[in-house]
Amino acid sequence: MADDISKEAGFSAGYAQDNPHGASSSAHLGESSQSAASADNAKPKPVPRGPLSNNRIPRILSVANQKGGVGKTTTSVNLATALAAIGKKVLLVDLDSQGNASTGLGIKRAGIRKSTYDVIFDDASVAETVQTTKVPGLFVLPSSIHLSGAEIELVGADHREFRLQRALRVPLPYDYVVIDCPPSLSLLTLNALVASDAIVVPLQCEFFALEGLSHLVKTIERVKKSFNPRLEIHGIALTMFDKRNNLSDQVAADVRSYFGDKVYNTVIPRNVRLSEAPSYGLPAIVYDMKCSGARAYINLAKEVLKREKKIAQAAGVSEATPSATQAA
Ligand SMILES: Nc1ncnc2c1ncn2[C@@H]1O[C@H](COP(=O)(O)OP(=O)(O)OP(=O)(O)O)[C@@H](O)[C@H]1O
Ligand SMILES: [Mg+2]
Repeated sequence: MADDISKEAGFSAGYAQDNPHGASSSAHLGESSQSAASADNAKPKPVPRGPLSNNRIPRILSVANQKGGVGKTTTSVNLATALAAIGKKVLLVDLDSQGNASTGLGIKRAGIRKSTYDVIFDDASVAETVQTTKVPGLFVLPSSIHLSGAEIELVGADHREFRLQRALRVPLPYDYVVIDCPPSLSLLTLNALVASDAIVVPLQCEFFALEGLSHLVKTIERVKKSFNPRLEIHGIALTMFDKRNNLSDQVAADVRSYFGDKVYNTVIPRNVRLSEAPSYGLPAIVYDMKCSGARAYINLAKEVLKREKKIAQAAGVSEATPSATQAA
């Protein structure tokens, strides 16, 4: 069954800041114990806390939709920035070989020594791969062009669905990890889903919006059964909403009637500032924090944190932890 899914997943064939990991990598002493990833890793583990580190396993949110161009990267970058602006420590993982999240945060390709690829394939630690951004509290695991071959390389790799889980579900100095997924339900996306607590699904307000979503929902259910029982849809974010266009209203109403309160109240408007900002290497929230797109992403982040609080309360803990969704 597990094998079926990974096959179906596509493979039958201002402001400089210190690295939060510090100079030494003692924060990662927990990683070695995770080296033998297996289907057992699908079971949620208690949050390790030890005398050597105050770090804990972060909450991990994947921004995923196999449909291209629906706003995954824009949502990842601006949601991560807004969470950091609210005071959370956030790691954005760029899992797309296009590298738009990395460049959108001002990371120059030439300056990337290690990337998410090295974390997945060469056991590079998060600490040695992470880069700072201009946003205080926001860090990035940059993408590289090597990720374009990752799908094929993963097919024959050991523990191929658990590579990212092994790197990220360990004590880290972040409250949140946000993963920008590529536009496919591939092994890379499967790695993200296996590592995550929940998924944020951006849905473009256009005619065929719901098409493909049922496939995503089925995939989530199967990943949940076979690899990661904690996985939930955190919420559906309606993106590129055009208030002058009746179609946007119609699509939003359809999605809400089908998915109910899984759909965030906040709607992301179509806003040219959101598409301009990446060319300046800045999140829209930094580029023009007053524009309608930036304000919408700040509201979305507040809503995300509200839901996180509910998840934590349902689990009987003061803050959402990686095991909270399981306990809820
Ligand atoms: N709300 C918005 N208003 C205007 N333009 C937007 C908005 N959201 C995204 N865009 C633009 O639409 C394009 C696609 O957005 P984005 O790159 O975020 O989508 P994606 O789902 O990550 O794409 P891919 O599937 O290729 O990774 C980009 O040029 C982006 O700047
Ligand atoms: Mg993208």
